[in-house]
Amino acid sequence: MNTQEILDKQRQYLWPNHLLYYTDPMPLDHGEGMYVWDVAGKKYLDFFGGILTTSVGHNNPKVVDAICRQAGKLIHSSTLYPHENHVKLAEKLAEITPGDLETSYFTNSGSEANENAIILAQTYTDNREIVALRHAYAGRTTLTMSVTAHAPWRMGKTFSPDIKHAINPYCYRCPLKMTYPECGVACAQDVEDVIRTTTSGKIAAFMAEPIQGVGGFITPPDEYFGIVTEIAKSYGGIFICDEVQTGFGRTGTHWFGIQHWDVEPDIMTMAKGIANGMPMANTITTQEIAQAMKGAGLTISTFGGNPVSSAASLATIEVMEEEADGAHVQAVGDYFRAGLERLWEKYPLIGDVRGKGLMQGIEMVMDRESKEPAPQAVNHLFEETKARGLLIGKGGLYGNVVRISPPLIATREHVDEALDILDRSFAEVHESVG
Ligand SMILES: Cc1ncc(COP(=O)(O)O)c(C=O)c1O
Repeated sequence: MNTQEILDKQRQYLWPNHLLYYTDPMPLDHGEGMYVWDVAGKKYLDFFGGILTTSVGHNNPKVVDAICRQAGKLIHSSTLYPHENHVKLAEKLAEITPGDLETSYFTNSGSEANENAIILAQTYTDNREIVALRHAYAGRTTLTMSVTAHAPWRMGKTFSPDIKHAINPYCYRCPLKMTYPECGVACAQDVEDVIRTTTSGKIAAFMAEPIQGVGGFITPPDEYFGIVTEIAKSYGGIFICDEVQTGFGRTGTHWFGIQHWDVEPDIMTMAKGIANGMPMANTITTQEIAQAMKGAGLTISTFGGNPVSSAASLATIEVMEEEADGAHVQAVGDYFRAGLERLWEKYPLIGDVRGKGLMQGIEMVMDRESKEPAPQAVNHLFEETKARGLLIGKGGLYGNVVRISPPLIATREHVDEALDILDRSFAEVHESVG
């Protein structure tokens, strides 16, 4: 099918609220490593990786091989029957996750992983309420949309009254109009205020992403998670860390984002980069917390941890260890960040550059004084970068944050190619605004 035929069928047969990027959305046809090609044959350097998911590159041969070998043997079994790949992956994750996290429950999406994390925290603590953060994104189920704190991403009529939201550590637009570090991380204290004023006084969990993804790569200060997890603990709550975007080496140096803050979660959720694009998610916790599920009710997951996705995940982790470890991601991420900061010096449209490793965000503003969000400039940048063959992402409550997150196998040469396209595209956007 050509582009038009695919778009016509999309319009007719798929729900109209599917978010599509670009004025003229382009169906993708195939990929290899850092690149994808659309059905018209145009090549793009992929610096969004299918929403931070293609962690070791498109069609990575080792992952493809693992998938094919397992698909030829047994595609599906369900969780009713133990499977070698399922337990091997669980063992591997126990090895690479921080602290005492050891026991897993595999599902198919980040939404399900978060849903299960909340149920687990409520069961373990026997408390109901969850404190989440404004600007969070947690998924598409009713419970995870209740955690999500972006009006456009909250659909339907049913939201859980047990989810409460504290202000987020958004230093560039501080909700308290203060400046770090003089603020003393005052935003963290709002978690306590929220618990004392909007809950029963006992919570099941504090739940947060180490770096808010859809929120626009909002990166908390170093002290933040130490303070809020202590507060949560003193009100009976445990810490659910949503690593769906930040997990699997994305932020450099460590396997998981929260390790930059030196805090050990009680429950961690993961998806996206875990299996290079195969459907796979996990909720991992400690032996002690998992024991609460004994006798709490039955569970199955028809597709969760299925043999093919588990094989893909094991292969993905192996490739990360061999070709894209924490040191590599940190080095390439630092190199990329330095290039983005040079663009910040050149273009006043760039208000802020933030993130860690290969998870870098650019917040665009009308001017640096007013910080008025510039979502139209982001849309313009999208078209300019697309025309030059670069894929990027966007986010933020105001739609004015460019999100950039290439596969972790990216090299300095790929970064140079992306920076050159970004520079020429920013010049074009700058010209049209000025
Ligand atoms: C931080 C975070 N949590 C959860 C989810 C939900 O994951 P999924 O789309 O796989 O359900 C997402 C998706 O973008 C996410 O970014």
